[in-house]
Formats: sequence, structure tokens, C-alpha cells
Amino acid sequence: MENRKVKLAVEGVSKTFRVKGGKFQDDYLLHVLRKLSFEVYEGEVVSLIGESGCGKTTLLRIIQGLIRRDAGVIRVDGEPVTKPARDRGFVFQQANLLPWRTARANVEFGLELQGVPAKERSDRAQQLLELVGLERAGEQFPHQLSGGMQQRVNLARAMAINPAILLMDEPFSALDAQTREVLQREMLRIQAETRKTILFVTHDLDEAIYVSNRVIVLGAKPGRIKEIIEIPFSYPRAELPELRGDQRFQDIRRHMWNLIRNKPEGEKAAA
Ligand SMILES: Nc1ncnc2c1ncn2[C@@H]1O[C@H](COP(=O)(O)OP(=O)(O)O)[C@@H](O)[C@H]1O
Ligand SMILES: [Mg+2]
Repeated sequence: MENRKVKLAVEGVSKTFRVKGGKFQDDYLLHVLRKLSFEVYEGEVVSLIGESGCGKTTLLRIIQGLIRRDAGVIRVDGEPVTKPARDRGFVFQQANLLPWRTARANVEFGLELQGVPAKERSDRAQQLLELVGLERAGEQFPHQLSGGMQQRVNLARAMAINPAILLMDEPFSALDAQTREVLQREMLRIQAETRKTILFVTHDLDEAIYVSNRVIVLGAKPGRIKEIIEIPFSYPRAELPELRGDQRFQDIRRHMWNLIRNKPEGEKAAA
């Protein structure tokens, strides 16, 4: 990347949960993350990939400030952060829109909580609905929207507080394959327009390669970095089906798959 300003730094983060053993065993400690360190540059899209249970959501929640880490530091623009703030927006897998509010009113919700005046709120909501391609669906209620549209509202809602960093936890996992590809492209378009820094969690290899500047492959038990892979494709990117035909894409994909599966490699990827 041409711009190498570090936006988000994760430094030596560890996390252990105490798990109740119940009737048949003692309580025990579950080491979820061990001394995890990496940086995300301003305007970069970085994906975290790893098998289910390797601590991806835990890490994102620690970065957001929703749960405490045992050790380590999270920095935004060099400053340590410990609690949720407007500089970090969160997009979950489930849109969880408020069902009694229209799409527009859902987008406005966070601004209302902040006491933003009504006119400014509705102007901002309109801009965001346009940004996510929903300018004509503002008056619809969540149950009237498809899963993909709900996830667009979810993204607009996270963007309403204008966070510099978006933390996205498998945001498209619940969508069908086609809608997912559309939203991946939309996310990249929005990222290009707004220059947000994005930390994106997925367990989908193609998605990770497709959206990212770099992919961090995590190992499990405890979660730690196995490798950080630079993705060589420039933005704006070709569509995913086309990119899949590229030999480099296939090599990176195979390499990542072997890393996650702990398989020794017969041949090294060209990455
Ligand atoms: N509050 C908690 N108490 C105990 N164990 C937890 C808690 N939250 C998560 N875990 C455990 O930590 C591990 C990592 O979970 P998670 O971060 O959700 O993984 P991922 O998002 O990569 O699938 C899992 O084994 C999970 O059961
Ligand atoms: Mg998770």
C-alpha cells in the first residue's frame, strides 16, 4: 500500500476464559488467544481467517472494547483503547435491525442516541442509504427487506457514526452465495469511496482473498498467527468468478487451505 500509516495495532493480546466444568469435571482454563500482534494500515482491508472456535470473534470484541483482554494493548492511531467508542464500528453476521423501525429509522438510531438534530440525522441517513444502494427502501420495515438488504442497512447503521475503522464479523455468512458476492463487491466499492480501514472476519477462503489487501491466517488452540499473506491483486478488482480463474488466486487459496488444515505442502504456493 502506498499509505503506510498504522491505523490499528494489536500488540501481544492474550485471552483465557475460565470454563465451568460442571458436575463431571473441574473448571478449566481455555486459552483462546496467545500473544497476538499485527497492524492494520489506514484504508486497508485485512481479513482474519481460521477455523471455527479459533478466537476470531473474541479478538474483534476485544478490539471493540466489549470484552477485556488478559494481556496486551490495542491502539487506534497510536493511542491505547479499552472501551467501545465512535472510532470503531461493528457489523455482525446477524443484522439485528429493530423490527419496529424503518430502514431509515434504524440507520438514524445511533445518531439519535448521540443527540444529533433531526434534520442532520435524516440528511445523514439519506446519504448512507444511497451509499449502500437503498435510497428507495428507506421507508420499508426489516421484515419487508431481503437478507442482503438487511445487511446493507446494518452496514449503513454502523457507518452512521462515521467510524474510522469497521470491524466486520462474518457479515455475509448468512447470505446465499450470489447475494454474498454482490455484497462483497458493494463493500469494496464503499470502502473505495470512504477509505475506511476494515478488519474483516470470515471463514470463507475465497471471500478473504477477494476483499483483502492482506489475509491473516490464524491457528487454533490457542489462536495465534500462522501467516500473513499479501494479496497481489489491485483494486478495483475483477469479479470473483473471474479472479478464481487466475493461477495466483488458486495458489494462494491452496496455500491458505493447507495452513488452516495443518497439512504439509507438496509444493509451495507462488504467493
Ligand atoms: N464468554 C466465554 N466463556 C467461555 N468460553 C468462551 C467465551 N466466548 C468464547 N468462548 C470460547 O472461545 C473460543 C473462541 O470463540 P470465538 O472467538 O467465538 O471463535 P470464532 O469466532 O473464531 O469461531 C471457543 O472455544 C468458544 O467456545
Ligand atoms: Mg465467530
